[in-house]
Amino acid sequence: MTAYQHHGKHFVPHDWTHALVAARDRLPQLNATNTRHLSAFLSCALDKADGTYDYRSYLGLPLLRLPGPDHPKGTAAQQFARRDRLHAILLTDLIAFELRAAFDEHTPLPRMRPTPAMTTKRLRHALRAAMPALRRLSLVEPTTNSSQVTLLRRVVATVTMDLTPEDRRALQVSMLPVHTVHDEWMFIRVLQAFETTFALLATDLTDVITAVEAGQPPRAASKLSAAASLLRESASLWPLLATIQPAAFRTFRTFTEGASAIQSRHYKIVESLCRTPRNARLASPAYLSVPEVRTAIMRGQVSIDDALNAAQQSAPTPVLGAAMREFAAAIQQWRQTHYRLAVRILGPERSGTGYTEGTPYLRDARHEPVFNCPTTRPDTSKGI
Ligand code: HEM
Repeated sequence: MTAYQHHGKHFVPHDWTHALVAARDRLPQLNATNTRHLSAFLSCALDKADGTYDYRSYLGLPLLRLPGPDHPKGTAAQQFARRDRLHAILLTDLIAFELRAAFDEHTPLPRMRPTPAMTTKRLRHALRAAMPALRRLSLVEPTTNSSQVTLLRRVVATVTMDLTPEDRRALQVSMLPVHTVHDEWMFIRVLQAFETTFALLATDLTDVITAVEAGQPPRAASKLSAAASLLRESASLWPLLATIQPAAFRTFRTFTEGASAIQSRHYKIVESLCRTPRNARLASPAYLSVPEVRTAIMRGQVSIDDALNAAQQSAPTPVLGAAMREFAAAIQQWRQTHYRLAVRILGPERSGTGYTEGTPYLRDARHEPVFNCPTTRPDTSKGI
């Protein structure tokens, strides 16, 4: 791990790579349950050498035990707590990294450190993004008059003491930057935090569909409204990410070619559980980049729209319609903020790392309707 953070994954010396490949070759002789985690780690660490580098391996997603479809055990409340915990520990790790780098020059990823003013701003946004989850988990006192640095240090100490050995290991092994530029740490943690929320939303939407199919619109509505609220809450990650230094981003981005969030399965599951995508979008990079999700759709995955149609409801009940509008507005807002940030950082014409034309792709994808039913379209006249 230390070597990866010291050199950057793209620059790890060949001797190290060969040693890890040799270690992996010996793995099948060991007990499979004991080696599952190690084997998942090696797949992520050796992705560039193996030619399998992508968004999932870049972010170490198989090492994070995300809530949702990949780990469906537990009640809805337990899944929600799992999301909160992961969100909180990812952001606290970022806070700890930023504090450490501000005071200790030997902190990993030494290139292009941000200015003290930028660090202060970043820490403020990181704390704000972590706070709702920290409060729900009772990992922070409800009110406090402490200075920002004292509060940050207290949060880091409380969360660190609360970490299980599995949490510590997950945090360690899921930080595999490609380069040694300071801002990549934040970029990775923010993407992982968004993925954590999308993973939970994918489960929530499946529950919404089950409720619609069972003829329980009020239950479907309250689940969907709660999902919209969580998505709005997670938007606090955007101002944090906006503190990224464009030059730093462009430096490490050269080595992330082939890993793009267009490959995010959870985002596309969320999108396709609302409404089955049109054939043109299914045949475009949007879904060709997530083959498992595409296959599930082609095999007849049911969306909220489909479930409403099957229930022969020409329009959802008023309460469900309102929840659908609320969720659609939260998604549209998410897409709009993402697009604006991408334009600000990349410029209007620079291509994406997911082999699209870049921001022009996002400009058009923003307009995909979230649901088919026209009564659920958010009111865009106010210019979200
Ligand atoms: C520096 C910030 C970011 C920039 C410059 C950026 C840029 C882009 C670009 C250019 C694309 C088009 C696909 C391609 O790569 O060719 C894309 C797609 C996407 N990005 Fe980002 N992105 C950023 C941050 C994020 C974050 C934090 C998330 C959260 C998970 C995210 C999620 C997505 C998703 C889900 C797509 C696919 C959208 C679709 O297919 O409709 N991006 N991004």
